[in-house]
Amino acid sequence: EKGGYDHFMLKEIYEQPQAIRDTFRGRMLVDQGLIKMAGIDDHIDKFLNARRILIVACGTSWHAGLVAEYIFEDLARIPVEVEYASEFRYRNPVIDKDDILIAISQSGETADTMAAIKMAKDKGAFVFGVCNVVGSSISREAHAGAYTHAGPEIGVASTKAFTTQITVLTLIALQLAKKKGKISTSDFHRYLQELDTIPEKVEKALGSNDHIEKIAAIYKDAPNCLYLGRGFNFPVALEGALKLKEISYIHAEGYPAAEMKHGPIALIDEQMPVVVIATRKGHYEKVVSNIQEIKSRSGKIIGIVTEGDVDVRDLADHVIEVPDTIEFMTPLLTTIPLQLLSYHIAVMLDKNVDQPRNLAKSVTVE
Ligand code: F6R
Repeated sequence: EKGGYDHFMLKEIYEQPQAIRDTFRGRMLVDQGLIKMAGIDDHIDKFLNARRILIVACGTSWHAGLVAEYIFEDLARIPVEVEYASEFRYRNPVIDKDDILIAISQSGETADTMAAIKMAKDKGAFVFGVCNVVGSSISREAHAGAYTHAGPEIGVASTKAFTTQITVLTLIALQLAKKKGKISTSDFHRYLQELDTIPEKVEKALGSNDHIEKIAAIYKDAPNCLYLGRGFNFPVALEGALKLKEISYIHAEGYPAAEMKHGPIALIDEQMPVVVIATRKGHYEKVVSNIQEIKSRSGKIIGIVTEGDVDVRDLADHVIEVPDTIEFMTPLLTTIPLQLLSYHIAVMLDKNVDQPRNLAKSVTVE
């Protein structure tokens, strides 16, 4: 049932090109230049008139929510707030009927996320669910929703659910941006065409697997690891760190690269691997100077870079390339090497990759 793979996690990492394609299917009509999503289209006035969008989730799904915050605000110009469901539900939040709450949950059973939905509904908000498990409690409790079509995710560490959550949320952001007149028709078409190439670019990113395995062998005994990114890739850094901690039990932290100098840079020495997402987009120069700061303190740098990159390659101890794409789509590619890096480290440390200690696939208690 693992389809020839040693673990479900690896199988699910490799299923991502197909999972993303399945999530596009019937929704993204590239030739017609259209997005069709019943859950959005049937409630379009609510979305267009929303004062803001609140996103609630836990864990990896919360990271997908953070990526969505950057994309929604950038493309659709709608204010977005992202909250841990467990904090949101207990902090008497200001919320009313002009708010839309998007709940993201792979399992659709997470207790805190469910409680946040019920509270938001009580206060009159419109609730939209992004779930993977069809017919799950959260998908039934929401007023509307869109499924990620990732297929069953067995490995406890979430992989294809994360990238398909980002896929669904990107489609929503694009649809709202178009309906609100925030992007031109030609940009909209260009974005759909580029999005359509993402599955094959994910495949290409998976092609670095052997190279990543070698890097994993070098750093598998590190007691700590830092993950840095900026902008759209800051949440990817958080997700990379979570993947490493949960399956390899190595302490890891994700940070926005520019926050280093406000404290964490004190941790850097020659023992410290620092994974830096440095694709040649938006904040590239700034990330390069962040890398220089780490380098001058003898940190070991693993750069996640755009194909053909030279600047980071000169500074870094290792680079892992991902194909070029439009900036807001980069998380779908930069996530891939981080998943593989954690996977190989955990395997080399002989950990139970698919069922890490203390963790459950669906967290139905708070
Ligand atoms: C991380 C992981 C957890 C889940 C979290 C939310 O790999 O699996 O952090 O993302 O428990 O679960 P769902 O998405 O089912 O609500």
